[in-house]
Amino acid sequence: MVNYGKWCLAICIIGWFTLPCTQAAVNTTTLNYMRRQAVRRVTQRAWQAYITHARGFDELRPVGCEGVDNFGGLRIMAIDSLDTLWMMGLENEFWEAVELARGVNFTQVDGDLSFFETGIRVLGGLISAYELSQVQVLKDRAVEIGDVLLRAFDTPTGLPNSRVNPRRNQALGTDVVLAEVGTIQLEMAKLSQITGNPVYNEKAQEVITFINSLETYLPGLVPVFIDANTGEFRGDLVTFGALGDSYYEYLIKYAAMTRNTKGIHSQMYQQAIDSMGLYMLTTAKNHPDDWYLPELHRDTIRPTMQHLTCFAPGMLALGSDILNRPADLGVAKQLLKSCINFYQHTATGLGPEEIGFDPSDPTTDGTSKQAFQSCTTKPLTKDQESWQRKHGYYVKSPSYILRPETIESLLYLYRYTGNVSYQAMGWRFFESIEHHTRTSVAYSSIHDVNARSRSENLSDSMPSFFLAETLKYLYLLFSDKSVFSFRDYVFNTEAHPFKIM
Ligand SMILES: *[C@@H]1O[C@H](CO)[C@@H](O)[C@H](O)[C@H]1NC(C)=O
Ligand SMILES: *[C@@H]1O[C@H](CO)[C@@H](O)[C@H](O)[C@H]1NC(C)=O
Ligand SMILES: *[C@@H]1O[C@H](CO)[C@@H](O)[C@H](O)[C@H]1NC(C)=O
Ligand SMILES: *[C@@H]1O[C@H](CO)[C@@H](O)[C@H](O)[C@H]1NC(C)=O
Repeated sequence: MVNYGKWCLAICIIGWFTLPCTQAAVNTTTLNYMRRQAVRRVTQRAWQAYITHARGFDELRPVGCEGVDNFGGLRIMAIDSLDTLWMMGLENEFWEAVELARGVNFTQVDGDLSFFETGIRVLGGLISAYELSQVQVLKDRAVEIGDVLLRAFDTPTGLPNSRVNPRRNQALGTDVVLAEVGTIQLEMAKLSQITGNPVYNEKAQEVITFINSLETYLPGLVPVFIDANTGEFRGDLVTFGALGDSYYEYLIKYAAMTRNTKGIHSQMYQQAIDSMGLYMLTTAKNHPDDWYLPELHRDTIRPTMQHLTCFAPGMLALGSDILNRPADLGVAKQLLKSCINFYQHTATGLGPEEIGFDPSDPTTDGTSKQAFQSCTTKPLTKDQESWQRKHGYYVKSPSYILRPETIESLLYLYRYTGNVSYQAMGWRFFESIEHHTRTSVAYSSIHDVNARSRSENLSDSMPSFFLAETLKYLYLLFSDKSVFSFRDYVFNTEAHPFKIM
């Protein structure tokens, strides 16, 4: 039996007959151990490539094998990867990343940094890695970049500017975005906690108080474009995709991190989710079982959904648990089913950046209680049309840039339901990533999830969230739920775990 097990294990590793083999002789514990090791090897390989070919740069070009400073020279890959390397026990790699963090002086960076990306990747990454490892230089760096970001709050409304330039001591950009101003609260609260200086948390909380004071056209749903000078909305767009997404995520996660389920954050979250159920959730025409979360412009839905929006099932599952809203878990399962479908129908087995769909008439089989009309969209190509007839949706933007959101939601749903089919799904996605995005040194975004030829479709980019989020969530999906338990940790929107206070 033991020998058979070993032999079988060898076959599994080669990749043949994974399922029959595992069912015959490898128990779930062993199977998940092997899966974790596979994810760890991919992480190690991607990190090695960065260190060999792009050490000290923001990111690696995984086809051209060179470094690129596309984040103003913040060494974004190193800082974003710290806690992933720590979590996977990649010690040498972790210390390589620490050394890179040690060698950068954020106050000397001369470039217009995105307030949002710097907050979630750099500040979030440093704080999380500091909490885990207690390495002092990570805290020093966190304070340094936190102080740079603090300058952005100096506007008439207190809504932070969209960009900061550390060297010039400037903050700029007053046309701000909901997800940008509303996705700094976890990081700032943590920074106040570890420094004992309350100012970070206060500034970030004033943003939430201010948003709460604004009058919106539907309860809890906030239009995404705001003027930071006047506090007025520009336009009506409401979305759980890009520009809106992590504002809602941080409302519930702030409640979770501070263990306060009765406060303003929980109230704002519940109001938003109730409105989302009433006015946004939609099914596809002739596919009444397929639920989508499209964009909203007052009384009109725009029938589109981004890969980014697929974080929502995970958020709903978390909110369902901590606020005791069991119905939200049902919605989460339905939406995740659609997100999984986006992967399953494509040639690569990877999900596209954006899909469109033909919405049902809300008065007949829709889930929306109000008869909203949908915008007219431009005519579909023949391919898109036949895809839509078959699947209820069509591919609108065909790239896959190594994004995590669907895998992230698999992790939440697995942990909250115990249903192992979410693990099996995650393993399939991992295999597709391994097969279709692999380059000679690392992994690359692809142009087209339906491309048959791999080499022509590598877009020569490996965003830092591939290590920070995608691989971390996969690793956790195959780990016991006590590992970085949701009872002990809240993950920021870049998958950096913060200890619950
Ligand atoms: C699975 O296999 C591992 C390692 O061989 C063993 O320690 C564990 O007890 C097994 N678990 C079950 C549920 O059989
Ligand atoms: C970063 O540069 C500033 C300005 O030159 C200097 O005052 C500061 O000490 C430097 N920080 C570190 C950690 O070297
Ligand atoms: C587990 O999830 C899958 C995929 O969503 C679903 O088809 C299946 O019915 C679920 N199993 C259980 C026991 O709930
Ligand atoms: C790969 O992607 C490019 C850019 O989107 C596209 O023009 C090309 O046709 C694709 N190649 C294949 C083989 O699908």
